[in-house]
Amino acid sequence: MKQYLVSKITQLVRSILKWVDYRITGGDSGMTDEEAIAAPYEHYARIRARASIVRTHRNRGWMLLDFDDVQSLLLDHRFSADLRKNPFLSKMIRMAADGRTVSFLDNPTMLNLDPPDHTRLRKLANHGFVHKSILALEPRIISLVDECIDTVDVGSGKPFDVIETLAKPLPVRVIAELLGLPQEDVSRFQQLSTDFIGITAIGNSELMDIGTAAAEELEAYFDQVITHKRQHPGDDLISQLLEVEEQGDRLAARELVSTCIVLLIAGHETTTHLIGNGMHLLLDHPEQMQQLRDNPALIPNAIEEMLRIEPPVQFTVRTALEDVEFSGQKIRKNQLVMAVLASANRDPKRFPFPNDFDVAREDVNHITFGYGIHLCLGMSLARLESKVAFERLLARFDTMSLAEQDIAFVPVPLNRGRQQLLVNI
Ligand code: HEM
Repeated sequence: MKQYLVSKITQLVRSILKWVDYRITGGDSGMTDEEAIAAPYEHYARIRARASIVRTHRNRGWMLLDFDDVQSLLLDHRFSADLRKNPFLSKMIRMAADGRTVSFLDNPTMLNLDPPDHTRLRKLANHGFVHKSILALEPRIISLVDECIDTVDVGSGKPFDVIETLAKPLPVRVIAELLGLPQEDVSRFQQLSTDFIGITAIGNSELMDIGTAAAEELEAYFDQVITHKRQHPGDDLISQLLEVEEQGDRLAARELVSTCIVLLIAGHETTTHLIGNGMHLLLDHPEQMQQLRDNPALIPNAIEEMLRIEPPVQFTVRTALEDVEFSGQKIRKNQLVMAVLASANRDPKRFPFPNDFDVAREDVNHITFGYGIHLCLGMSLARLESKVAFERLLARFDTMSLAEQDIAFVPVPLNRGRQQLLVNI
C-alpha cells in the first residue's frame, strides 16, 4: 500500500515538474525529443517567435525567453530561489523522495537560499573568490593543464578525447587544490560529484539512491577534513573560512560542509562543459580557430562568446512569493518560473545575428553566469581555467580537427555538454 502511494505521489510530482522537461520534450514545436536535445536553440527560437513569456506544461509554470525578462526576474525579490517557500511543491517532493534527504530542502546551499541567510553565506565564501586571488592561481593552472595535455599520445595517430583528457579532470583538480584537499582524492570526487546530481532525479529511485549515497559520503568526508583543518590550518579556502569564523562571522558546521559541497558541484561539470562546448565550436568553425591562433589576445573574448552561444547551464528556476504582474502576465503565488538563460543569450532584440559564433563579437554581455544576488561566485575561476585550457591547446597542437563521431549530449535538461569530443591532431 505504502509503495502504491509513493508511486502515485511520484507520478504527481513528475507531472508537476514536467514543465522543466519542456525543453527536451520538443513541446508542440513539431520536433522529436532527440531533435530538441541536439538542437535546443531552434526549439527556444520557435517558442520565442510566439511569445516572450509562455505557460508551460499543463499551465503549471512559466517560461521566460527574452533577455530583458530573464534579467528582470533574477533581480526581482518577489521571486525566490528557496523552494521550501513553496509549501505544496516541497511537500510533494518530500513524499516522492520517500524519506531520502532532498539536498535543496534539507541542506540548502547559498544557491537555494534567499537573504538574509544567502547574504551571510555568500559574504563568507566571497573571501576565497576575490578576483585578484583567483588570478594568482594562473601559474598552477597552467601546470595542471599541461599535465593533462601531456597524457595525449601524439605519436599514435589516433584522435584524443578532449573531455576525458582535459575538460573533466581540470576543474575538479583545481577546486580540490583551492579547498586544500589531497590530489589522491580527486578521482573519487569526480565520481561523487557526478553521482550527486542523482539527488535531483525525483521519482527515479535508483538515481536518487546513488545521489543520496554520494551526498552522505561527501558530507562525512568534508566533516573529517574540517576537523583536521581546525587543528592544522593551511593556505587554502577551507582554512580561510575557518579563520573568518574565528573573527566573528560564523558558519554553522553544516553550512560549512554544504558550502564546500556547492563549490565542488557547481564548479565542476559547468566548467567541463564550457571547455567541451567551446572546443566543439572552434572545431566546427575553423576560420574562428585560425583567428585565435593569429591573435591569442582574443581568447578571453572568444570564451565570452562561447558562454553566450552554448551555456553549460541552460536555465534557472524561481518560485513566486506573491501574485505578481510580470511582463504583461499575472504570475500567481507559488507558481514556478523558468528563466531560460540559453534563450536570452540568443534574443535577436539583444544580440545582432545571435546564432553566429563570432570570437571578435563586440558586445558579448551574456547572462550565462546568472544575474543579481546569485550571480555565479566562481565565474573568474571558470574564465581563467578555460582561458588557460584554450591557450595551451592551441599552442601545443598546430592542427586540430573534428574526428568522425556520434556526438552524445549529457541527458540532464539543465545542462548542455558533450559526453565525448574526439579531436584529430
Ligand atoms: C562555466 C562555468 C560556470 C557556469 C556556466 C556557472 C553558472 C552559474 C549560474 C547560472 C549561477 C546562478 C544560478 C541561479 O541564479 O539560480 C551560478 C551560481 C553559482 N556558481 Fe557558478 N557557474 C560556473 C562555474 C562555477 C565555478 C567554477 C564555481 C566555483 C568553484 C561556481 C560556483 C557557484 C556558486 C557557489 C553559485 C551560487 C552563488 C549564489 O547563490 O550566490 N560556479 N553559477
